[in-house]
Amino acid sequence: MQKILITGGAGYIGSHVTKELLKRGEYEITVVDNLSTGFLETIERVKKHYGDFEFIELDLSDWQAVAKLMQKNRFDAVIHFAAALVVPESVENPLKYYLNNTANTANLIKECVRSGVGKFIFSSTAAVYGEPASIPKTGITEEDETQPINPYGRSKLMSEQVLKDTAKAYEGFKYVVLRYFNVAGADMGGKIGQSTKNATHLIKVAAETALGKREKMYIFGDDYPTPDGTCIRDYIHVDDLSSAHLEALDYLDENESDIFNVGYGRGYSVKEVIDTMRKVSGNDFVAEIAPRRPGDPAILIANSSKLRQKTSWKPQYDDLELVCKTALEWEKRL
Ligand SMILES: NC(=O)c1ccc[n+]([C@@H]2O[C@H](COP(=O)([O-])OP(=O)(O)OC[C@H]3O[C@@H](n4cnc5c(N)ncnc54)[C@H](O)[C@@H]3O)[C@@H](O)[C@H]2O)c1
Repeated sequence: MQKILITGGAGYIGSHVTKELLKRGEYEITVVDNLSTGFLETIERVKKHYGDFEFIELDLSDWQAVAKLMQKNRFDAVIHFAAALVVPESVENPLKYYLNNTANTANLIKECVRSGVGKFIFSSTAAVYGEPASIPKTGITEEDETQPINPYGRSKLMSEQVLKDTAKAYEGFKYVVLRYFNVAGADMGGKIGQSTKNATHLIKVAAETALGKREKMYIFGDDYPTPDGTCIRDYIHVDDLSSAHLEALDYLDENESDIFNVGYGRGYSVKEVIDTMRKVSGNDFVAEIAPRRPGDPAILIANSSKLRQKTSWKPQYDDLELVCKTALEWEKRL
């Protein structure tokens, strides 16, 4: 059995990946999380419905505790989700992002090298691409320029660089960087979902509004150069994103380090998403037009051909109605 360390497993994406790994039944799992934005209840739900694993409440800024953990366990692989991820907050408090997302990641990588961890899977983001001048219809590729426009994106890109340099210098240490586009929806098994407080993710906000948890929601800008004037994004179901992590683990058994975009390669506008949520919820809730937010590119679509060609990743839930339905069902339970 491979021993796997998951950081940030009490959070939205980390808990879904933990679930997928448990379903496969081939791993001995340890999850660490400081519960800053994650929930103990999420850990308990995953354990109850999908199987047992070790959970340790630990903050990655406690470098001594991290060293101890890594020396004691000798993990085969680390899947690193723990991070801070609110873009406006990263502009106001950049040091939080450079310390938590870059420094703590560099330290974790150091302990991986020291304890002989061979595989590292890193949660990166489309934010590393910044505001591309133009995006071809086929989406952004991994080779496109990385020009992040906020500290969040830069803190992630810097960690990518640490991984690249480390893998070059230390034989036996390999990584896969997964650059996620917009992640949405909830566990197809209906047991877990996104519990993030004060979320700004469009589909979650639309689900909250559809259920009357918010009086109304906002559309930030309707004068973009897109067919209906609102921004277009690539929304991927969290279970499809999760399966990409299992592919990444397998990939490193036979291949060298690599970087992959994870998205469906097709986009929906903000208005299309809201209309879909209205349809699946049967509630014609209010969405008000508001000014553009700084730093929102008009269109962000992943070109995920590389992931599809080099691994056997096959997304199963590429259906906006389904993504919205699972998000809505989870929101009802919350
Ligand atoms: N949600 C998205 O749409 C999206 C898109 C692109 C990339 N990502 C990346 O995916 C990863 C997971 O995001 P998420 O949406 O699940 O967020 P989340 O906030 O739900 O999960 C992050 C988890 O990490 C934990 N954590 C944070 N700092 C920690 C620390 N110092 N020590 C220990 N635990 C710590 C939090 O408590 C939380 O449980 C992040 O790295 C994020 O940058 C997310």
